[in-house]
Amino acid sequence: MGGRFKGFQDLQRRPEHIRIPYAAAAGGQGDDRVVLKSRKSVEEARSWRYDHQAWLIGPGIGRFRDPADPRPDLPPFPALIVRPSRLAPLPAEFGPRPKFAGAGRRSIVRIDIRPGTTLYGTGEVAGPLIRNGRRTTCWTTDSFDYTDQTRSLYQSHPWVLAVRGDGSAFGVMAETTWRCEIDLRRGIAFRTDGPPPGVIIIDRGSPAEVVSTLAELTGNMPMPPRWALGYHQCRWSYEPDLRVRELAAEFRSRAIPCDCLWLDIDYMRGFRCFTFDPGRFPDPAALNAELHRAGFKTVWMIDPGIKAEPGYGVYDEGRSGKGGGATTHFVRRADGAEYNGEVWPGACAFPDFTRAATRAWWAGLYSDFLATGIDGVWNDMNEPAVFDQAGKAMPSDCEHDADAELGGPGPHARYRNIYGMQMVRATREGMEAARPQQRPFVLTRSNFLGGHRYAATWTGDNRSDWQHLRWSIPMALNLGLSGQPFGGPDIGGFVGEASPELFGRWMGIGSLLPFARAHSIKDSEDHEPWCFGEECERICRAALTRRYRLIPYFYTLFYTAHMTGTPVVRPVFFADPTDPGLRAVDDAFLLGSDILVSARVEPGAATGVSCSLLKGWRRFEIPGLPEHDSAQLPTLQARPGSIIPLGPALQYSDEKPVDPLTLLVCRDSMGQAEGTLYEDAGDGYGYKQGDYRLAKYRAEAGGPPRVVHIEGTRAEPTRGIEIIEV
Ligand code: GLC
Repeated sequence: MGGRFKGFQDLQRRPEHIRIPYAAAAGGQGDDRVVLKSRKSVEEARSWRYDHQAWLIGPGIGRFRDPADPRPDLPPFPALIVRPSRLAPLPAEFGPRPKFAGAGRRSIVRIDIRPGTTLYGTGEVAGPLIRNGRRTTCWTTDSFDYTDQTRSLYQSHPWVLAVRGDGSAFGVMAETTWRCEIDLRRGIAFRTDGPPPGVIIIDRGSPAEVVSTLAELTGNMPMPPRWALGYHQCRWSYEPDLRVRELAAEFRSRAIPCDCLWLDIDYMRGFRCFTFDPGRFPDPAALNAELHRAGFKTVWMIDPGIKAEPGYGVYDEGRSGKGGGATTHFVRRADGAEYNGEVWPGACAFPDFTRAATRAWWAGLYSDFLATGIDGVWNDMNEPAVFDQAGKAMPSDCEHDADAELGGPGPHARYRNIYGMQMVRATREGMEAARPQQRPFVLTRSNFLGGHRYAATWTGDNRSDWQHLRWSIPMALNLGLSGQPFGGPDIGGFVGEASPELFGRWMGIGSLLPFARAHSIKDSEDHEPWCFGEECERICRAALTRRYRLIPYFYTLFYTAHMTGTPVVRPVFFADPTDPGLRAVDDAFLLGSDILVSARVEPGAATGVSCSLLKGWRRFEIPGLPEHDSAQLPTLQARPGSIIPLGPALQYSDEKPVDPLTLLVCRDSMGQAEGTLYEDAGDGYGYKQGDYRLAKYRAEAGGPPRVVHIEGTRAEPTRGIEIIEV
């Protein structure tokens, strides 16, 4: 674990971190108002405009406007679920405050930070957890084979979480959908191409509170179906249908747990969305039915690019603006003609998802598609990616006929960042309409702050190397800190070939992240868990057995994320935000509040990972795993005073009607422990009418755990309960 805290110490040592009173530089007061002194910041300070327009929109939540912004009102901001209302003038003691500079198409907002403040969030970013010193550009980009130097990945989250030295925290949201650079080299700065953004600042006692307040403003992640928490197997592409059947049989015969198989673009007829290739996938309904009988779900890909080919039904409908009261559903060029750009099928048109009428048309396309028994939808390429354009982006002056709800008609430069978000909004609505009794599962590559309301995500086209394995932990953590609790990497890496050691290690880590799916690029060697030799296969089986036994705990965490916005995986510093030694840890993470996962992310022996990060946390293993195999997996430690619910080892999440329950009891120094278990039907919306059981367990010194509180009307099934003390 050498070098773990280096980044943070370096930050503290940097010479420009000299406290000077904010009041001296800015005419303000209050102890948060400290600027980082450097020649450039002193120069900039001359032109700063301060928050003459500031008001409270909730307890501890300030909203600020550039005093020079001539617009009577800020436009709607699609990340928010409510239009912020002015509750009261901002109290003088409100700490962090932005200052504004620039004008017209180049606006700058800066928020100064105190020395010792560490920065996180900024959405989907590769590299270390801690973001001080980094720049990220919010501009959704198809960033195939990205590195930590790639400024724009697939998603945009104009949001920064700042944790002060004393463990209190604040979050800053820039209300802009335009291209926006988040510059964390000196404090926090947002530079946008658009008009000056409004700024929302949430000031709280801890980072966890900031993140849940973010969910109050941007909405809750919907409860996913329980099967989506299982293991997913993907590649580009499993084809023809026979190969998919063989894959399913292989999983079951080798007893490797798996819930879901994925169908990438090659199932389509010539990459035409909402079609099936008659030769390779002649009967998708029969294929899905057969897979369902074996306990598998399926997720099939849909891209936004619609082949521009008269006679292809989806294109014809889109062009005629079917049901939409417009002449077209497609994005237009600046001269008004339909915009076409190259994607998989050749020249494509792109639905204008910023219009409700277009979303409704698109949603309707899913009804026949889903009637084949497809369980989930994978929306890819929705930055949107266009191969024959610089930066793979359509021209910025293409026109969107956006509804007033999003800000009214405007150029692509304004709406690009929310294109993917509005696409998955439509997809989700389509799934809800087609199957009102089931919870949709949508996976998206592109998204925007607040887009967790519609879809889960993965971290795009990573690479089969150790660097990407290392980044996969902080990427999932920073997504969680940016409001997206449901994400994960392509396990094993997408581009290139994984070695057996890398694949096994990645499965060990990836199976403990919220979204657990292996995926690999076209024409790579086979990347299923059994393709890397016996040792790797055993490690994968053990990793996935852990995952499945932990599903009751995971499901409870997803319920917590759904209700409160608290991420499923959290940085280690969540356990003690006042400990500066934890701020940069990113080869370990907290799974909920009760499990610390420590991993070795370099090649070489997986064992011997240091377990001294959190005092008193006790090492444990999921019972029944062969020791030789579990030694290759990340180390698990339980919080003293916790009770962790486990289910049985399953091949898929709905394998048995009733699962016996195991309670792992890790007592504190007083001999006491507490834990929570959330259960419901695993799908549907009965839980909203009370059909759930949220049980709180408590063990007193010397006694067994007992239920001390129950919510919901769902009866406890008759089942065995095993108690294991760790
Ligand atoms: C993109 C996706 C990848 C997918 C491929 C083919 O590269 O990121 O996951 O396999 O397109 O659809």
